[in-house]
Amino acid sequence: MKRYGILCDGGDAPGINAAIRAVARKAFEKEDEVLGFLDGFTGLIKNDVKIITKSTVSGILPVGGSVLGISRINPFKNPKYIQKIKENFKKNSLTMLIIIGDRDTIVIAKKLADEGIPSIVIPKTIDNDIYGTDFSIGFDTAVTTISSALDNLHATASAHHRVMIVETMGRETGWLALMGGLAGGADYIIIPEVPYNLNDIAAHLENRKKEGKNFSIVIVAEGTPLPEEKKEKVEYDEFGHPINAKRRVGYFIMEELEKLTHIKARTTVLGYIQRGGIPTSTDRILATRLGVAAVDFADEGKFNGLVGVKEGKIVFNPLEEVAGKIHKADVKFYNLAKIFF
Ligand code: F6P
Repeated sequence: MKRYGILCDGGDAPGINAAIRAVARKAFEKEDEVLGFLDGFTGLIKNDVKIITKSTVSGILPVGGSVLGISRINPFKNPKYIQKIKENFKKNSLTMLIIIGDRDTIVIAKKLADEGIPSIVIPKTIDNDIYGTDFSIGFDTAVTTISSALDNLHATASAHHRVMIVETMGRETGWLALMGGLAGGADYIIIPEVPYNLNDIAAHLENRKKEGKNFSIVIVAEGTPLPEEKKEKVEYDEFGHPINAKRRVGYFIMEELEKLTHIKARTTVLGYIQRGGIPTSTDRILATRLGVAAVDFADEGKFNGLVGVKEGKIVFNPLEEVAGKIHKADVKFYNLAKIFF
């Protein structure tokens, strides 16, 4: 019999609960046990733990957020935390950890492996920036939220003849802006993977106006580079990532385009709304497949890896092959979206 410790690390994403349910149900099928640590690594450090039963995971498939809570802390910032993690891993007689997490989690899991704590990471993040998987849990739901926001913004943009700037999440990658913009019919997309020129964008918006299109929707990824003088003010989190909510890229783009075009513009920052909501069926199915696969790999004796899906097939990536890497947005989709600008 195996005993898994499950926890969620990073930012929440719709479909986490479906993954928790999948891990638990597959483990129960094999007569294994699952312990859930509350609020991510915080729970593992404090030994805040509960036994997962069938009833814990009943009814959670369509629910957003995480029934176990989640946190974004770097346990390697404090050696005492690592000591506690080792103690609690042993105290609970765990076989391994199953961590539902993101890029930072993979780096943590790799370091934990070096400390003798085995794990399997299940990829979740609305950003879709995890190397080793084509899709991460939560991305599809967030894209759906973004495209539906664009549908709403079209009406008001058209009524007021405005340029609407829509800022999406996504850290250093433009997956959310790109696929949300493609699905929602954005008139221009700005992402970190493709250099942008404000004069060209302004000329494009003016051309649209000349053609009789009295409004435009411009979608911009939060991690889009800012000019040098604006970079000084950027704040960073404990993993060294810029706090994008404070970079205000959407407002910068709005002010610059207004100056260049003299067309009235407004900015909508979609923010944490993108992380909420009911997971789409695509995310529920992905989470279910990845959760079951994590237990299957563990059962085969495979650990210290990231489960993923590549070209529709489940894969196991050793942590050292994926830690520290990034899954950038695929520019072929940008070229597709450009046809509709
Ligand atoms: O990684 C998911 C994400 O939502 C990013 O898109 C965003 O930059 C970040 O998390 C925000 O993090 P926090 O929840 O710590 O504010």
